[in-house]
Amino acid sequence: MVIFGTRPEAVKMAPVIKALRKYPEQIEVTVCVTAQHREMLDQVLDAFNITPDIDLDLMMPDQKLAQLTARIFTGLDPVLEKHRPDWLLIQGDTTTVMTAAILGYYQHIKIGHVEAGLRTHDKWQPFPEEINRRIAAVVTDLHFAPTENNRQNLLREGIPDETIKVTGNPAIDALRIISQQPAPPQVETLLKETGVADGNRRLVLVTAHRRENFGQPILDICCALQRLAETYHDQIAIIYPVHLNPNIQKPVYQALSGVKNIRLLPPLDYLPLVHMMKHAALILTDSGGIQEEAPSLGVPTLVLRQRTERQEGVTAGTLKLVGTDPDLIFNEARHLLDDSTAHAAMSGAVNPYGDGYAAERIVAALLATHTG
Ligand code: UD1
Repeated sequence: MVIFGTRPEAVKMAPVIKALRKYPEQIEVTVCVTAQHREMLDQVLDAFNITPDIDLDLMMPDQKLAQLTARIFTGLDPVLEKHRPDWLLIQGDTTTVMTAAILGYYQHIKIGHVEAGLRTHDKWQPFPEEINRRIAAVVTDLHFAPTENNRQNLLREGIPDETIKVTGNPAIDALRIISQQPAPPQVETLLKETGVADGNRRLVLVTAHRRENFGQPILDICCALQRLAETYHDQIAIIYPVHLNPNIQKPVYQALSGVKNIRLLPPLDYLPLVHMMKHAALILTDSGGIQEEAPSLGVPTLVLRQRTERQEGVTAGTLKLVGTDPDLIFNEARHLLDDSTAHAAMSGAVNPYGDGYAAERIVAALLATHTG
C-alpha cells in the first residue's frame, strides 16, 4: 500500500506507483490518499493519471497540526486493519508520513520510507518536517535514501546499513516523465503577458509556504520582492504562485497585490510549474522539491530558509541558502541578475539527486526482500 497526502508526496510517489504496477504478478498495489491537501493533490493525480483506491478526504480549511494528526490516526487505522498490506510505502516528511509510520508500526506492517535520511539536525527547521522524518526513520524497515549523504545521516543514527538503499530521488524521475509533455497554453499566455516570452523581461519565479516562515519572515520575503520589483521595474517579471495555506495567502496578497511587475497566482499545477521553472532566470523558494528540481533544470536558486536538508544542491553550486532577511535576499538576487558570470556558474552545476530511475531501484529492493 502506497500512502500519501500532499502535493509533493504525490509528485514523488507517482513514478514509484508506475514502477510497482509493472509487476502485476508479484505486486498488488493499493493507493491510499489522506488528502491532507485537496486541490493541490488532485491536480498531480490527474497529471500522472493515478486514481486512488482509497481517499480519506481529510483536508479541512486551516486545520491545526494536532487536529490533522488526530484525524489521520483515526481515519487511516481502520484502512490498515482491513487491507493488512505486506508493505506500507511512505514518502518524505509530512504529517501524513509521520502518522502512517506510527500506525504501520502499531499494526506490525513493514514500512518502506522513500526519501529517507534527509536532515538539517535542527528540530525546529523545517517545522515539523525534521521531526516527522526522524520519527518515520525509527520504525522504517527499508530506507530509500536519495543520496550517499542521506545514507550517512541514517548510519549516524544507528540505522543498520543493510536496511538502507541509495536510490536517487524519484523527484527526478517525475521531472523526466513530465518534461516529455509539452507546455500547456497557460504557460505560453503567462510568459507573453509578462514580457518574458519576447525577451523583454527575465523571469523571477517565487514560491514560499514553510511553517517556520509564517509571520514576520513571510513579510520580510514580500519586502525583498517589492524592492526587487521596483529596482528592476523594466527588466524582470516576478511570478509568484501562492500556496493555499491561509497563513501564506493573507499576508502575501496584502503586501504584494498592487505591485506592478509582480504577478500573484493560485498554485500552479505541476506540469506548468515545471515549464515555468525552465524559463526562469532565477528562483526564490523555501520548497524542498524545487531544491531538487532546480539543479536538474540548471536554474540558480536562492533558498529562503536558514537551513536545508538538501545540502547536496548547495555543494553542487545551484542552490544558495539566504534565509529571509530582506536585505540579504535583495543583494543576492541583485548579484545574480547583474553578474552574468555568477549566474552562469550557478546554472552550470550538476544535478546531485539521481538519474531519474530511482523508482525502479525502489521496486527492485522491495522485490528482493520477497524473493531473497
Ligand atoms: C504541507 C506539509 C509540508 C509540505 C507542504 C507542501 C505538514 C505539516 N505540512 O504543508 O511538509 O512541505 O504541505 O505543500 O504536513 N490548503 C488548501 N488546499 C490544498 C492544500 C492546502 O486549501 O490543496 C490549505 C488548507 O487551509 C489547509 C492548509 O492549507 O488546512 C494547510 O495545509 P497543511 O497540509 O496542514 O500544510 P501545508 O502548509 O500545506
